[in-house]
Amino acid sequence: MSDPAPGAAPVAPAPVPRPPGAAVPRRPRPPRQRGTDLEPPREAGEIRRRTFTWISLSAVLGAIGLGAVKFFFPRALYEPPTRFKVGYPGDYGFGVDSRWQSKYRIWVCRDAEKIYVINAVCTHLGCTPDWVSSANKFKCPCHGSGYDSAGYNFEGPAPRPMDRCQVTLAADGQIEVDKNKLFQFDRFDDKLASLPV
Ligand code: FES
Repeated sequence: MSDPAPGAAPVAPAPVPRPPGAAVPRRPRPPRQRGTDLEPPREAGEIRRRTFTWISLSAVLGAIGLGAVKFFFPRALYEPPTRFKVGYPGDYGFGVDSRWQSKYRIWVCRDAEKIYVINAVCTHLGCTPDWVSSANKFKCPCHGSGYDSAGYNFEGPAPRPMDRCQVTLAADGQIEVDKNKLFQFDRFDDKLASLPV
């Protein structure tokens, strides 16, 4: 083949003839694009909005989950029993015994004739008075009500004596107290308000 004349356009080379039966080479394809490649770049505002949405959604779902857990596993309140034994009559000497004050919120009292149990709840607004043995009285720390050793109010705003609990003698000879059955002062003579000694 002769060289093109100076100044003439270059001539493309003629295709080389393919031998008969030869495989036809495929034209290379461009690499496949993934889905994310197709999305346009997100703006900072949109990213912030989406993050906020996800956080809010997670918070709501978390709250619902917590509610469900609390529903199925409620927080148990272990209140002391309202009916219980406090030992034998012979365990108590004359006067006020405060050994059960923190556990059962009661005092076991004994006089010359009987044993009775005072419910340790101030009749003013329900605080727990303290037994002040040096002054031989119960004193309420909230508003200053005072009660004598039998639970009768004599100072402060308390409107009446403290209530007494039902007491019975259990089959094993122990004193059984029932705080669900209370006696106000006008029923202190009730048969179940004390145990004769
Ligand atoms: S609650 Fe006891 S004096 Fe007010």
